[in-house]
Amino acid sequence: MKTTTSNTRDSESNIVLQIENLYKAFGENKVLNGFSLDLKNGENLVLMGRSGSGKSVLIKCLVGLLKPDKGKVEILGNDISTLSQSDMDELRTSIGFLFQGSALYDSMTVRENLEFPLRRHTRKLSSKEMEALVFEALESVGLKHTVDLMPAELSGGMQRRIALARALILKPKIIIYDEPTTGLDPITSKEIIELMNSVQEKYKTSSLIITHDVDCARVVSNRIILLLDGVNYAEGTFNELSNSNDTKIKAFFK
Ligand SMILES: Nc1ncnc2c1ncn2[C@@H]1O[C@H](COP(=O)(O)OP(=O)(O)OP(=O)(O)O)[C@@H](O)[C@H]1O
Ligand SMILES: [Mg+2]
Repeated sequence: MKTTTSNTRDSESNIVLQIENLYKAFGENKVLNGFSLDLKNGENLVLMGRSGSGKSVLIKCLVGLLKPDKGKVEILGNDISTLSQSDMDELRTSIGFLFQGSALYDSMTVRENLEFPLRRHTRKLSSKEMEALVFEALESVGLKHTVDLMPAELSGGMQRRIALARALILKPKIIIYDEPTTGLDPITSKEIIELMNSVQEKYKTSSLIITHDVDCARVVSNRIILLLDGVNYAEGTFNELSNSNDTKIKAFFK
């Protein structure tokens, strides 16, 4: 497995994730019909699409949980269809996920939740090393004091910040956010959105952000892609798309 993008073609070396002409159908239900996307190094790319448009299917194709019918997915220069299971597992450690909801383990403390990816994915770390990584991740979301609390003792917004800390702990090159602000009140949403921007700045991560939240898209996006009828229907900056005269595009920004 290639571990850097340095040996990919020059014109593409700036691209950390490339989806090319992806097709996926379930029987008669054609979900992806030739979808393509490039995530550039260091950018926040927002993907918007209606409920049922195939956003989760796309993510599952990215991480190898679903096999596309046709098309190519390249992550950090690796064509994932050519990777062995162990190489795929290793590559997944360069991707942080913030799943819809917070998906913390209820029966584990915050510390144990954060240690989980460390125990699962990396070489054996000493407890001192783990402690340092746990606190560094908690620091970046401003929640060091919660280290020994249980998820049930935290507010919804705090839980989501802990989930973000957990996604960051392996210092991923790419973060995929699935509906990061759904279900949060406007003030907490704003906190999460600001945090997403500070993560981009501090860790220089590239992020793919799936959201329905127009405010979130406005504040975090460097670029937006609209997924419609299984293809990338439109692509541009927030200003370009929100000022479009196309009725289908307009519908997203109401
Ligand atoms: N494993 C599966 N088997 C059959 N059909 C599936 C499967 N997974 C998804 N689908 C179908 O694919 C389509 C897209 O689903 P997907 O979950 O990707 O939507 P989404 O864009 O993530 O929607 P939402 O915004 O509601 O999360 C839906 O019609 C769904 O029924
Ligand atoms: Mg979904």
